[in-house]
Amino acid sequence: MSLTISILGISLIGILFTLYKTRVRIEPEKGPLTKEPETHHPVAHIKSVLFLEIPLERIAMGGFSLILISYGWILISGSTLPELELGLLTLASVIMLLLLFKQILVAGISDNFRWRVLALLVISTILTMLIWNRPGLTDPVLLEDTEIYMLTLHLLGLVLGLGGAVILDVMIFHFLNNFKISSREAVIMHLISQMIILGLIFLIVSGVALTLTDPDTFLENPRFLMKMTSVGVVTLNGILLNLFVVPKMEQISFLEGEKEENSGLISAAFIAGSVSMVSWFTVFVLAMINPLETFSYLQLLSAYLILLAVTIAGGLGTKKLYEVKGERA
Ligand code: HEM
Repeated sequence: MSLTISILGISLIGILFTLYKTRVRIEPEKGPLTKEPETHHPVAHIKSVLFLEIPLERIAMGGFSLILISYGWILISGSTLPELELGLLTLASVIMLLLLFKQILVAGISDNFRWRVLALLVISTILTMLIWNRPGLTDPVLLEDTEIYMLTLHLLGLVLGLGGAVILDVMIFHFLNNFKISSREAVIMHLISQMIILGLIFLIVSGVALTLTDPDTFLENPRFLMKMTSVGVVTLNGILLNLFVVPKMEQISFLEGEKEENSGLISAAFIAGSVSMVSWFTVFVLAMINPLETFSYLQLLSAYLILLAVTIAGGLGTKKLYEVKGERA
């Protein structure tokens, strides 16, 4: 009872905070039509509190409202609906990880700290922890009963994440047809990278739920442990890519006189792109091919490291190829 009231209280604070912040938000001044809008610049796009063109506060407010209404109803009716609560826990966790990602990005790129994102992150973390502590939500029986829904979310995450990673790589090569990335193209790539992050968040949240159905068995399985290692690489690489490469994407140029200035950035982009692609496919293959569990963790890790080295060498070779072509352009 007291836990339900705390959840209601925190979600209400969250809603009031987002309402207040939405009200005081200052609309950016509209410039002349001929001028490129500020949001078409990658750094401005990252600094704005938008996620896939939706203000993060609205996403958080929607989530908090749903939690408030659902728990209000649970309190009034006195009913126990663990399946609904598990759905709300999933929603709260997704919002919390979205805000965490945005907070890391904003702190790493922006010169002025955004307290609003941090405050929302704290509220959503408390909310997630409170819902997590509701009785029976991490019970393996409930998690097994709802496995099909978590698998559905896992596969949706796979579509967005792996699909986005492939699209991003194809786009980069398409945009490099003229040996240069423009601001507009950089913003498009930032949007796709947000799609990938959303996919990864879905995969992590649903993945934890799937693992909790039988944690001991999963944690003894070398295929699963190797999958977690590659997920770690995908996550870290994704954060570094978003922090250090995506904001400077428009500086990528293979044209004479420009390529020398940003050689380090171009190498980082090609290395991070290769690591992303090979790691996403490694996780996918490890998840799908059951017989891989006959190999030890060390064998799987060695194969992954060799694959990584080969792909990074391939990425750097491709960069060299573009440099040669760019000289002739
Ligand atoms: C890049 C991230 C990830 C990708 C691409 C991925 C991919 C997949 C795929 C394709 C499946 C098979 C679904 C099926 O059998 O129909 C799967 C299952 C599963 N995933 Fe993930 N996953 C990712 C992250 C995670 C994370 C972070 C966890 C745990 C924290 C996790 C835990 C599981 C579990 C427990 C299963 C079901 C059991 C199994 O067959 O191994 N996954 N995943």
